[in-house]
Amino acid sequence: MIDAKSYNVKETLRNGMQVTVRAIKADDKEAILESFRELTDETLYSRFFAPKKELSEGELKQLTEVDFDRIVALVVTHSTGGGERIIGGGRYIAVKDAGGADKAEFAMIVEEDCQGLGLGKLIFRHLLSIARARRISKFEAEVLPANDRMLNLLRKSGLPLHMVTRDDSVYVSIDLTFAGQQ
Ligand SMILES: CC(C)(COP(=O)(O)OP(=O)(O)OC[C@H]1O[C@@H](n2cnc3c(N)ncnc32)[C@H](O)[C@@H]1OP(=O)(O)O)[C@@H](O)C(=O)NCCC(=O)NCCS
Repeated sequence: MIDAKSYNVKETLRNGMQVTVRAIKADDKEAILESFRELTDETLYSRFFAPKKELSEGELKQLTEVDFDRIVALVVTHSTGGGERIIGGGRYIAVKDAGGADKAEFAMIVEEDCQGLGLGKLIFRHLLSIARARRISKFEAEVLPANDRMLNLLRKSGLPLHMVTRDDSVYVSIDLTFAGQQ
């Protein structure tokens, strides 16, 4: 089984940028706050489905202090002259479905100046490999109908998707047991 708590993988984005995909840590709080401040209202709305101006202490704790068992959270970092910048992240929360099988709700976010570089796909791929190693059979996500970037990312995953539009959201269910994927 993958040790998600120590997860640390180097990757190169399509523009040549070197990044690290790693497990989130409790002492990432300041860096998370910094990256949160850089996000536009639109990006935050796409992730949280409501106007979001700030993260409370409780939310910050919830985001950064996870058990890596039921909840797995990864960040993508880039080294800058002054240290490490968090440029994206994703997480899933595993739950049992009605039949007792493991499924997970997932979400992710990428800093505006790093969108369109394949980072979203990368985060999805890493969350997917951890989830699959843990025999999670399904990923579920709630996406705004106008969020073409996220919907296209999922459509291009090669995995069987089931999409249902309810009220103002698209509920996407992704079958992780399908073998013919990246
Ligand atoms: C959705 C999000 C995570 C995608 O991250 P990203 O790094 O920009 O995505 P990628 O660069 O990996 O692109 C993935 C796919 O999206 C599609 N895409 C990229 N730019 C697009 C655009 N401007 N319009 C429509 N589709 C686009 C492409 O199909 C692309 O695949 P390709 O590179 O093979 O062509 C990011 O845009 C984001 O943080 N959005 C706000 C938060 C959010 O919506 N989260 C999802 C809710 S859980």
